[in-house]
Amino acid sequence: MQKITAAITGVGGYVPEYKLTNQILETMVDTNDEWIRSRTGVEERRILKGEGLGSSDMAVEAVKELCQKTGIPMDEIECLICATVTPDMVFPATANIICDKAGINNAFSFDVGAACSGFLYALTLGSSLIESGRYKKVIVVGVDKMSSIIDYSDRATCIIFGDGAGAVMLEPQADGNGVLDSILKSDGSGRQFLHMKAGGSVKPATVDTVLAKEHYVYQEGQSVFKFAVKGMADVSFELMERNNLTADDIAWLVPHQANLRIIDATANRMNLPKEKVMINIQKFGNTTAATLPLCLWEWENQLKKGDNIILAAFGGGFTWGATWLKWAYDPK
Ligand code: UT7
Repeated sequence: MQKITAAITGVGGYVPEYKLTNQILETMVDTNDEWIRSRTGVEERRILKGEGLGSSDMAVEAVKELCQKTGIPMDEIECLICATVTPDMVFPATANIICDKAGINNAFSFDVGAACSGFLYALTLGSSLIESGRYKKVIVVGVDKMSSIIDYSDRATCIIFGDGAGAVMLEPQADGNGVLDSILKSDGSGRQFLHMKAGGSVKPATVDTVLAKEHYVYQEGQSVFKFAVKGMADVSFELMERNNLTADDIAWLVPHQANLRIIDATANRMNLPKEKVMINIQKFGNTTAATLPLCLWEWENQLKKGDNIILAAFGGGFTWGATWLKWAYDPK
C-alpha cells in the first residue's frame, strides 16, 4: 500500500485591485521605471486600500475561493495555518481571525512567522498533520499586507513589495502524488540584514520609535541578495540531487518572487529553461508569504496530475527552503 501523502487539492488567491505602478512610484521617490525593471523585474504591485482592512481580509477572500472551488464546506476544515509577517495584530494569531471571518468553526489555527519562506514552512507543517493520519482537511495560507510596513519614502524597499494572499487545501492521498520532500533552513544571524527595528518586546512602540521610522522594513539589499541567490539555488539543487531528479523530470519551478535576478540564478543552477519557471513578479512584486501560492493560483490551469514541482524560497530570518511535490489533479 502506498504511504499517505498530503496533496494540494485546490488553490485560492486574492490580490487587491489597486495597482501601484513604477510610473506612480516615480512621482513618490527618486527612482525610475528602467531601474526598477532591470534591477528587480517589478512593473507594478497591488496595494490593499481601505480603512480597517488587514491581512486577514485578503486571506478570507482566498480561503472562500478555495472552499468554493473544492466544494469543501467551511465546517469540515480541521486546521488552518497562516504564514505572515504582517499579522492583523501582534496577537491573537491572524489564522484565528481568518477562521472567524470566513466561518471556519471547527478548526484549530495558528500563525507561522518565517517571512518569505513562511508558506513553505507552513506547507511542511500542514503536510505532516495530514501524513500523521489524524487530520484530513488542512488549509495553508500565505498572506502579507507589506504596504503596512513599508516606508514609501525609502526607494530601496518601496519598489519591491506588494500585497496579496494565497491558500491551498491539503488532503490525504495514497496514489504517490502530493508533498514528497522538503528541505527547510534558518540562520538567525541573518536578522541584522532584514528586520523591523521596533514594535517587538526588545523595543516596544514609543513616539520616538515612530518618529525614527522604526516600524518599517529595514533591509540591506545587497547582502540579502547575495545570501538569497546562494541559499535558494543551493537548497533547490540539493533537493533535486537527493531525490535523483534531473531538469527533464521537473515540470515547474515555483520560486519566491523577490527579484527576477534571484529567480534566474536559481533556475540556471537547476538547469531549467525559462518556460518551466513561474514568474509573476512583474505584476505583483514581492508579496512575501503569498508569492508561492499566488503562482500556483495563476498557473493552476496549466498543472497536470503527476507534474513534478519544486517550490523554493528565501527570506528574512534568514529562512530558506525547497519543497518537492507531485501535482495531484488535472485542470478542472
Ligand atoms: O524577499 C525577501 C528577501 N529580499 C530579497 O531577496 C531582496 C534582495 N535584494 C535585492 O533584490 C536588491 O538588492 C535590491 C533590489 C533591493 C537593490 O538592488 P541592487 O542592485 O542590490 O542595488 P543597490 O542597493 O546595490 O544600489 C545600487 C544603486 C545605488 O546607487 P549608487 O550608490 O550606486 O550611486 C542606490 O542608491 O542604485 C541606487 N538605488 C536606486 N536607484 C533608483 C537604490 N534603489 C534605487 C531605486 N531607484 N529604487
